[in-house]
Amino acid sequence: MPYNLLKGKNGIIFGALDGNSIAWQTAIRVHEEGGNFILTNAPVAMRMGAINDLAEETNSQVIPADATSIEDLENLIDQSIDILGGKIDFVLHSIGMSVNVRKGKSYTDQNHSWTVKGWDVSAGSFHKLMQVLYKKDAMNEWGSIVALSYMAAQRVFPDYNDMADNKAYLESIARSFGYFFGRDKKVRVNTISQSPTPTTAGKGVKGFDGFISYAEKMSPLGNATALDCANYTITLFSDLTKRVTLQNLYNDGGFSNMGVSDAVMDMIDNQK
Ligand SMILES: NC(=O)c1ccc[n+]([C@@H]2O[C@H](COP(=O)([O-])OP(=O)(O)OC[C@H]3O[C@@H](n4cnc5c(N)ncnc54)[C@H](O)[C@@H]3O)[C@@H](O)[C@H]2O)c1
Repeated sequence: MPYNLLKGKNGIIFGALDGNSIAWQTAIRVHEEGGNFILTNAPVAMRMGAINDLAEETNSQVIPADATSIEDLENLIDQSIDILGGKIDFVLHSIGMSVNVRKGKSYTDQNHSWTVKGWDVSAGSFHKLMQVLYKKDAMNEWGSIVALSYMAAQRVFPDYNDMADNKAYLESIARSFGYFFGRDKKVRVNTISQSPTPTTAGKGVKGFDGFISYAEKMSPLGNATALDCANYTITLFSDLTKRVTLQNLYNDGGFSNMGVSDAVMDMIDNQK
C-alpha cells in the first residue's frame, strides 16, 4: 500500500539488472511512493535491455555508468540533476561482484588482481560515488544514501569468499563517509544487511541453495525477500528516519541474533 513517503523526492538507483534484483524491486516501490529517479547500471549490463522495461514502468530515464569510473559517476550525477530538475534526495548503491566467486577460486587460492577488481566494484565504488556526490554538493540536506551488505562482514561464511571482506570494507566506508556527509551536508549514510536473496549476484555464490534454506530455517521470521528489502529502503529514504545514520541495519528475519533454532536442531536430529 503506497503512503506517498517519497513524494517530491529525487534520486538515483544503481544495480537493477532484472526483475529479481533488489534494486529493481526498490525502483518499483520508490515509484509507488511518489519518488522520481534515474536508473543506472554498468554499460555491459545495458546489453540485456531489461532495464528499459523498468524505466518505462516507473517513468524514469536510464544513464549507463560504470560505478568504478569517476568520470562516469560525474557525468551521471550532472545529468541526473539536469533531468530531475534539482539536487538528489536519495541514492541506492546495489552493486556487488567478485571475480574469484564467479570463476570458482576459493578464499585460500585467490587471484589477487581479481580480488582488487571485485573490491573496486563492490566497495571502492561506494566511496567513489559518495566522493563525487560530496564534492559536487549534489545532495539535498536530509538526503539519504543506502548500500546493501551481508552479514559475512561480521561472521564467517566460507563460500562467500572475498565478498565478505568487500562487505566489511563497504560498511566501514558507510560509517567513515557518513560522518563527513552528516557533519557537512546533513545527509545520512547507512547499509542494510540483507538475507540471502535469489538474484543473479546471490545465486552466483557456491552452495547458495543450502545457504538460503539454512537461513530460512534459522530465522524466526524467515528470510527477508527483495521486496522486504525494498520496503525497508523506502523508510530509510523517507523523512521518518532523519537521524538514523552510520548504521549497519539487519533486514534478515532475526538471523543475525540467532544461535540455533528448533528447525535446524530437527534437521540435524533427523540426520542421525
Ligand atoms: N542476493 C543476496 O543474497 C544478497 C544478500 C545481501 C546483500 N546483497 C547485495 O545486494 C546488492 C544487489 O545485488 P542483487 O542481489 O540484487 O544482485 P544483482 O545481480 O541483481 O545486482 C548486482 C548489480 O551490480 C551491478 N554491477 C556490477 N558491476 C558494476 C559496475 N562496475 N558498475 C555498476 N554496476 C555494476 C550489476 O550489473 C547488477 O545490476 C549487492 O551489493 C549484493 O552484494 C545481496
